[in-house]
Amino acid sequence: MDRDLLSYRAHADHPIAAPLSDDSVRRLIDRTVHRADARVLDLGCGSGAWLLRTLSGRPGVRAEGVDLSATALRAADERATAAGVRDRLDLHRRDATDFPAAHAFDAVLSVGATHAFGGLLPTLAAAREHLAPGGRVLIGDGLWERGPSPEAVALLGDFTDLATTVDRVVAEGWTPVYGHVSTREELDAYEWCWTGSLASWALDHPDDPDAAEALARSAVHRGQWLRVYRDSFGFLSLVLRRTDG
Ligand SMILES: C[S@@+](CC[C@H](N)C(=O)[O-])C[C@H]1O[C@@H](n2cnc3c(N)ncnc32)[C@H](O)[C@@H]1O
Repeated sequence: MDRDLLSYRAHADHPIAAPLSDDSVRRLIDRTVHRADARVLDLGCGSGAWLLRTLSGRPGVRAEGVDLSATALRAADERATAAGVRDRLDLHRRDATDFPAAHAFDAVLSVGATHAFGGLLPTLAAAREHLAPGGRVLIGDGLWERGPSPEAVALLGDFTDLATTVDRVVAEGWTPVYGHVSTREELDAYEWCWTGSLASWALDHPDDPDAAEALARSAVHRGQWLRVYRDSFGFLSLVLRRTDG
């Protein structure tokens, strides 16, 4: 099954592709988008879930989203049109690591997309290139709540603990002005939605050629989550300003 289509189906009931509740998302956006006329950029915007929530109720804000996935961008296009915010949203299908923006942004978001840049710090370096003076970055990435097993590292990549992660960010010249560590409930809700939405799609479409694979991929993912990384993986969202302005 096409990887982007699988992800689209797996996120049917949890459009934010990260373990965050609606309340957490709202608070993080409120802390990040601090001007009524803000220009907002999302690097790895997926189906635009963050940008739709950013634009809704903020009529002076304009946004741009960058992603490689045609499937995700099509969903962003349709959802923005349905929400009545499409005229304030530009979508770019291209690699976010070398996005040539025409101007600087008051807020740069990148949640769950650090793998595209080679990790947390390279993602922040890329975000900085786009940031206007006084601007804010919202970044979301994994961390280890407890020492991971070698299997968890092999599956998810290597992270650090909360204090070390924040130290590394601060050492690169950033000051956290807000943050959120995903709760057990948020982490579990995301995984139940991911695996459950994909499985439900397969059960609802038994004659689709992708159905058997979708059901199998859901079961494999559920097993990896429950047996390999549920006890060690966590997720950190940080709102950051440049320490030097
Ligand atoms: C886990 S999803 C997060 C989506 C969104 N930020 C959210 O939280 O809902 C990661 C996204 O990064 C995108 N992506 C991966 N590599 C990319 C790249 N080099 N340039 C742009 N987007 C990329 C994927 O297509 C996917 O939509």
